[in-house]
Amino acid sequence: MSAPRQAFPGLSYRDRVAFITGGGSGIGRETALTLAELGADVAVLDWTAGSAEETAREIRKIGRKAFALQGDAGDERTVIEAFATTRKALGEIDLAVACAGVLGDGGPVFETSVADFEQVMGVNVRGSFLVVREAAKGMRKRKSGAIVLLSSLDGLQAEHGMFSYCVSKGALLNLARAAALDLARDRVTVNCVCPSVTHTPLLAGRLATLPNGDAVLASYAERHPLGRVLTPRDIASAIAFVGSSIANGITGAAIPVDAGIGATWDNFRDPPWVASRPG
Ligand SMILES: NC(=O)c1ccc[n+]([C@@H]2O[C@H](COP(=O)([O-])OP(=O)(O)OC[C@H]3O[C@@H](n4cnc5c(N)ncnc54)[C@H](O)[C@@H]3O)[C@@H](O)[C@H]2O)c1
Repeated sequence: MSAPRQAFPGLSYRDRVAFITGGGSGIGRETALTLAELGADVAVLDWTAGSAEETAREIRKIGRKAFALQGDAGDERTVIEAFATTRKALGEIDLAVACAGVLGDGGPVFETSVADFEQVMGVNVRGSFLVVREAAKGMRKRKSGAIVLLSSLDGLQAEHGMFSYCVSKGALLNLARAAALDLARDRVTVNCVCPSVTHTPLLAGRLATLPNGDAVLASYAERHPLGRVLTPRDIASAIAFVGSSIANGITGAAIPVDAGIGATWDNFRDPPWVASRPG
């Protein structure tokens, strides 16, 4: 208590190393670029051919080192090798982000196949577990580090007709808590960021399958109290914050980035007796 106050260090990743899965698109790409802008060198793993390399090229333009890897984030050998290669190329990892995620086929529990369930759990849950385990190996030795998992508002609540996805995103909340406790005395933090609807290629692809995609997007925006859906930068900002040294006191948390929708159960509508008031 008697230690002198230090000036607020600010949000910086200067000379830090970040590792990110799913960094070839959407939230992952924006996070990789945001971390690079804040000073980090970044390793990017993605299974879509060329997408990690494209992110790495953008990072190098920012003036930071970048390293691209192509492979399946749900595969044990791939993730072990990706961490080993990153350590050799960029040095010890300060922040690991598990962003690779899939929606699966969608559908209610009574129509969900074991194949779809296992595919979604394999990428979203096993992939995140592997990032935590492999990141922890180096971080425990150094007694510092941060790990961020991408859950969802579908992890904090459930969405009708998205059974496998909701189960997987809910599992990540307790994965983060359990890992946070196991790593707490090594001063390694583990947290979840939980976005609501975010305008990424994943969402754009789904909307493109609908005859009225624009109207669906507008109705999503209308239902969020801030009057808009989230942008990849909104989510990247939260990840950059919770993964940084200024958030060292936060672990085992689930942080919603949801434009206020988690604060309401009524889609931000006035109760009828208020809505019918004159004036
Ligand atoms: N977009 C949203 O509305 C939203 C909302 C909540 C949570 N999320 C979560 O955020 C994360 C990123 O979503 P996004 O919208 O940016 O998606 P996106 O599809 O734009 O990007 C995901 C990236 O992950 C990669 N990927 C998927 N599975 C992989 C695997 N097994 N191995 C390696 N790479 C893999 C894809 O190739 C893609 O480049 C996901 O975990 C998603 O569940 C998204």
